[in-house]
Amino acid sequence: MSQIHEKSPKHCAAKQSHFPAHKFNKKLFYSFSTLLLTILALILLVWLTLHPTKPQFSLKQTDIYQLNLSSFPHLLNSSIQVTLFSQNPNRKVGIYYDILEVYASYKGQQISLDTSIPPFYQGHEESNVLSASLLGEGLPVAPSFGYQVGRDKSTSGNLVISVKANGRLRWRVGSWVSGRYRFNVDCIAILPFSGSSLPTGPLTTKQGTQCSTAL
Ligand SMILES: *[C@@H]1O[C@H](CO)[C@@H](O)[C@H](O)[C@H]1NC(C)=O
Ligand SMILES: *[C@@H]1O[C@H](CO)[C@@H](O)[C@H](O)[C@H]1NC(C)=O
Repeated sequence: MSQIHEKSPKHCAAKQSHFPAHKFNKKLFYSFSTLLLTILALILLVWLTLHPTKPQFSLKQTDIYQLNLSSFPHLLNSSIQVTLFSQNPNRKVGIYYDILEVYASYKGQQISLDTSIPPFYQGHEESNVLSASLLGEGLPVAPSFGYQVGRDKSTSGNLVISVKANGRLRWRVGSWVSGRYRFNVDCIAILPFSGSSLPTGPLTTKQGTQCSTAL
């Protein structure tokens, strides 16, 4: 009996000496994680309110004035006029378009050189109409190019080309301007072949199409 009495206070003392330190660690842990959570929540809030949505593009019109292929070697001359509609969907973020290079391709082959659109700033929810003349002279294409265009003409009656743009943009929030981000725009133009063959008259799209933007 006496042995038990002697032991139990010792146990209590041992327990008491450990307990405050444990409690202190717990307190520190809680206040630290609360602080961390608050900071994370703040970052999330700023991100959610300012996180910019990618710019939107649509292709208003495409006219092909020339798409002339030499039989051997297979070299292409092209003249394509495109009108793009560009829109900034953000209410609090402006966009600097530093670089915007547009070109046309057909079945993965580039059919015009890059045309640079001069740099411009697009304010909150602003939109711009951009025009570009896409030209090519003596561009090497696959030997099947002429055959594929001919097949499109006889099967679907449409020439389907891609109008693509590669660019760099910077976001502007208030007076703060972000670093540069790469983005790509991909549009499809569907041009019905008119009754006559291509070199005689321009091929023109009947309606605009929405483009996809990758950032
Ligand atoms: C492309 O243009 C060049 C220069 O104008 C010309 O010499 C060549 O014959 C043209 N090619 C075709 C297929 O029209
Ligand atoms: C296309 O090339 C052919 C042969 O080189 C030429 O006769 C014709 O004028 C060219 N068409 C256009 C629109 O340049």
